[in-house]
Amino acid sequence: MFFELIQTSERSKARLGCIHTAHGDVHTPVFMPVGTNATVKGISVRDLREMSAEIILANTYHLYLRPGTKQIFSAGGVQKFMGWNGPMLTDSGGFQVWSLKQFRKISDEGVHFQSHLDGSRHLFTPESVMLAEREIGADIIMAFDECTPYPSTFEEAETSLRYTLNWTRRAKKWLDENPPILGYPQYFFGIVQGGMHLELRKKSIEALIKIAPDGYAMGGLSVGEPAELMYRIADFCTDYLPKNRARYVMGVGTPWNLLELISRGVDMCDCILPAKHAQDGLAYTSRGVLRYKNECFASDFDLPLDPDCDCYCCKNYSRAYLRHLFKTKEPLGWTLSAIHNLHFYLHLMQEVRAKLLSNDFEKWAEEEKQILAESCK
Ligand code: GUN
Ligand code: ZN
Repeated sequence: MFFELIQTSERSKARLGCIHTAHGDVHTPVFMPVGTNATVKGISVRDLREMSAEIILANTYHLYLRPGTKQIFSAGGVQKFMGWNGPMLTDSGGFQVWSLKQFRKISDEGVHFQSHLDGSRHLFTPESVMLAEREIGADIIMAFDECTPYPSTFEEAETSLRYTLNWTRRAKKWLDENPPILGYPQYFFGIVQGGMHLELRKKSIEALIKIAPDGYAMGGLSVGEPAELMYRIADFCTDYLPKNRARYVMGVGTPWNLLELISRGVDMCDCILPAKHAQDGLAYTSRGVLRYKNECFASDFDLPLDPDCDCYCCKNYSRAYLRHLFKTKEPLGWTLSAIHNLHFYLHLMQEVRAKLLSNDFEKWAEEEKQILAESCK
């Protein structure tokens, strides 16, 4: 069994589960650090293991352009290539191609686009992307989709959804005819689209269920809509998605967003925020958001970013030193604060799972959301 549903809360839709892959187990709810280029920016796999990361996300678009998916295949798959050897997931590149500012043309066939690196022209079809994901060899591979922009009219979202559904059908057919080439199973996730239109989200789910992927993602979220709307869409989707399959919300979000989504029945999340905020001189802490680049921390030699954190950064370095590294743009500053922020997210998920197990997730989550969203200084 790929996804094992262990327990569903009695007070919310939150679930405890386990994903079994050839490279190890992933306990859900899970936060997946983003490793676009087969590296979590600035962080070694030793650090990732130390902070108990269980699965990493990489990106097909970026790895296709550099170093090339055949190259990764020659290495024996992305897990070996990056020295991680744990579970991995690849996003399909649908979202990256969609976000390109350069030339991009979408048709039934697929997407013609120009590389953001050198302007070279390429075509992604559902079949070519599935081949690329077979060569990269992640344990979980995402369907090639179109992320529906926000806002979109019903008609625009419907046209976009039609592409995604056709491409998903073709991707599944191709995968059925072309089994894995690296000697272990790869599980296929369909992506629910439909913009902010509930009727289209429902249609998307009904069509995906017929295609029967191994898991389901919710895409087209956190694209500029208010958080409450994102929660409502996720809540609606999890009412219709099969209970015995993993649900993954793509590209979300803050720690409090994650708690909200988990209580609505979401099992998996990923986001670049912990890494991005590390670059902005911002740390998530057990007492709220800390802007350690601020002047007031210049002489804060005694306290770490978070006195309640036992990450490598907090065990060894002060706020004053982190502020200095930030001000002088030293790469170590990004590494250390990224270690802290990622550790914070992963530790939060460990707490979520422990609270779910002891049946007091909801009350804890309410209190936690208040604290987390606060800004300390
Ligand atoms: N990452 C964040 N949102 C999306 C989405 O809608 N589709 C894909 N493929 N990746 C995403
Ligand atoms: Zn820390």
